[in-house]
Amino acid sequence: MSSARRAARGAELLEASEDSSPAAQHARPRRMGRIAVATGLAAGAVLLLGSSALVTALMTPPEATDAPAALSLTNDPPEIEQLPVPELEQSPVVADLCTVPEVAAALQAGDDEGAIVAAGGGEAFRDAVADGRAPCVNLGDSTRIWTVVNKLRPATPIEYRPAPLVLPEGVRNIEGGALRTDAASALVSLVAAARTAGAGELALLSGFRSYEAQQRTYGRHFAERGDQADQVSARPGYSEHQLGLGADVVACAGQCSSLDALAATPQGQWVAEHAWEHGWIVRYVEGKTGITGYLPEPWHLRYIGPELAKAYHDGGWTSLEEFFGLEAAPGYAN
Ligand code: DAL
Ligand code: ZN
Repeated sequence: MSSARRAARGAELLEASEDSSPAAQHARPRRMGRIAVATGLAAGAVLLLGSSALVTALMTPPEATDAPAALSLTNDPPEIEQLPVPELEQSPVVADLCTVPEVAAALQAGDDEGAIVAAGGGEAFRDAVADGRAPCVNLGDSTRIWTVVNKLRPATPIEYRPAPLVLPEGVRNIEGGALRTDAASALVSLVAAARTAGAGELALLSGFRSYEAQQRTYGRHFAERGDQADQVSARPGYSEHQLGLGADVVACAGQCSSLDALAATPQGQWVAEHAWEHGWIVRYVEGKTGITGYLPEPWHLRYIGPELAKAYHDGGWTSLEEFFGLEAAPGYAN
């Protein structure tokens, strides 16, 4: 091979090794899933092995080695930068979340948020539940912040009533609705944050509704719409309002406007973007009627706590059913 061709070949080799440079490594998204972490490790191992082989080859005199000719072309080997060890951003996957003593203790104590934190946070908790690695987490337990109620999953028991129920202090409360204590303080914080951000005032239109109250609400919708009522109202026993974890909010500027008007107001915009920061999600969104069973309700907020709400937001989830890997619930079983 001519010296010019050798030099060109050497430059090619250098270029190839630069593709695995720290800059290229760091260009990857920071949030890696488990598969990505495994792939990263494998790739890192290959890169490390590959680079040490290259170093060995370049430092060995040509006559003393069987190394490929391409690796022994120069007497002045380039400096090989040490490649970075891939950064692990997740703790190892736990086979059964319920064997983690801190998770079990928090569950036992009724400390839902503590259990999620002990599990490694909202995303780790969600992953474990969706993967079937959390048998002690019962999504059908109506007392828990992670409970899922939909047309296939009634409250348990069906006339469930949370206690205690309190009024969200300092929030304009049109129907005098109460909420579970954790949801009430989270609503107080949400309403205050919206005001501080300059979005304006939000009021609570409807909070906790008992089984009997939901019978009346559904009955009114049924009288107006017949079977179409199921698109906009839960039957008694199937509403998040019965959990004390559902809040219908409206925008106020002096007078308060209707539920339907919320989305077009600065308050509605703010809620869509920031409710998760206070542990709430907008539960029924555009495009998910086939999964949730309901038309979009930009005003209906569901409290799931700060950890899960962050995981829901960060993961780009738009239905609680998909978040926890549950079946779609477009209609009732009977
Ligand atoms: N409007 C919602 C679906 C409810 O009745 O709970
Ligand atoms: Zn509602």
